[in-house]
Amino acid sequence: MNAPVRLLVAAGSARRGSYNLMLAGVAARVAREASAEVTELDLRALGLPVYDGDVEAAGMPPGALELRRLLASHDALLLAAPEYNSFVTPLIVNSFDWASRPAVEGDLPSGLGAMAGKVAGMLSASPGAFGGARGLLHLRSFLSTALAMLVVPETASVGQAHTAFDESGALKEARQRQAVERVVRSVIRTAAALKAAAP
Ligand SMILES: Cc1cc2nc3c(=O)[nH]c(=O)nc-3n(C[C@H](O)[C@H](O)[C@H](O)COP(=O)(O)O)c2cc1C
Repeated sequence: MNAPVRLLVAAGSARRGSYNLMLAGVAARVAREASAEVTELDLRALGLPVYDGDVEAAGMPPGALELRRLLASHDALLLAAPEYNSFVTPLIVNSFDWASRPAVEGDLPSGLGAMAGKVAGMLSASPGAFGGARGLLHLRSFLSTALAMLVVPETASVGQAHTAFDESGALKEARQRQAVERVVRSVIRTAAALKAAAP
């Protein structure tokens, strides 16, 4: 039997009560049901400062090395990303800018090498009508162009997010649950195929 796909799941907002954190939780449950090995990552817990070359020159923050290690040890990444002014949130940009900086170290690839060619999936949630879908256009570009990740074509954007989840954190509408399932399954299927094809 093939080894299970190792999936890193993170939200682009760390605030208490974040809808995207809830959506990441939904996706993590779906992925576990599909037999993936899931790590739920709190990007805020990495404690990364705003990227600054002087900070880097003084020593790579441990959070950047930790994110590189996590990316290197997983097959795929799933992000539940809010949009801020139709754009990617600073938490995501800053975290992955830092992750792109570490150089090759022993058995560990560079930060960019830990991401290049890995599969990524994108979800979003917002109280607005479009559910953060506009930000995903920019996130797709960031992940695929800058970080060389293979972003699956399916996305799921949960609009009216303030009424979309029940008390247990589950999505109330079957249509939205199914959209999330499609993204998660596509990420797992693509990552499994790449693993199977690896030399
Ligand atoms: C600076 C800022 C800009 C925002 N811009 C948008 C936007 O362009 N579109 C949108 O749907 N919501 C926007 N929002 C509202 C967020 O979608 C809302 O705060 C959402 O709850 C954030 O996600 P979270 O619940 O995961 O923290 C913005 C919020 C902030 C703080």
